[in-house]
Amino acid sequence: MSTGKISLTIDDRQVETKEGTTVLEAAKSVGITIPTLCNHEGLEPYGACRLCTVEVEAQGRTSLVASCVYPVEQNLIVRTRSEDIDEIRKTILEMLLAHAPGAPALEEYGKEYGADPASFEKEPSFCILCGLCVRYCAEVKKANAIAFADQGPTRQINFIPEIASKECWKCKECFPLCPTSYLQAAYFLTEGLSFPPHSASEDGEGE
Ligand code: SF4
Ligand code: FES
Repeated sequence: MSTGKISLTIDDRQVETKEGTTVLEAAKSVGITIPTLCNHEGLEPYGACRLCTVEVEAQGRTSLVASCVYPVEQNLIVRTRSEDIDEIRKTILEMLLAHAPGAPALEEYGKEYGADPASFEKEPSFCILCGLCVRYCAEVKKANAIAFADQGPTRQINFIPEIASKECWKCKECFPLCPTSYLQAAYFLTEGLSFPPHSASEDGEGE
């Protein structure tokens, strides 16, 4: 019978945790930091950016996995840094910097992993599709004022004007979650094009 307790090794440290914990959470519980861009403690894991890639070894097999979505296993061996892992993170950051040049969160990680922002041709879309805004609005605020539109290279986030005009002016809690400057710009563009800015005298607030 399963006791729900899991023992694993992360960077040569013995870690005890509960079944269902992710490798990212287990590492954090013993003070080991793994870089993340699309993860948020209050949201369901998403596994979009792959920056949290680590190496796991189980039953003699080694693989690279996204630690934010990978559940702990009995006797798993995890390595959070190695030449291969650092190279993967460097390449991910170089690709993301081509989409969101100058984004402070990316530049900071970029320095840590030696990413060259000139490695990939610039294709500034300024959104790295981490989904934090979309998921926060849906899961925490239950408002669904932001959604992904399209698939593939044209995938982007959109504010839904009918909902955003009612919900966003009093919230904006997603703004600080965005690792780039795109979210605020997209909101103010939607506001400018689709609905008038909300004034404090509307809806009777302040009365
Ligand atoms: S707008 Fe920002 S928070 Fe939303 S998906 Fe794009 S990068 Fe992520
Ligand atoms: S933090 Fe794990 S995939 Fe983004």
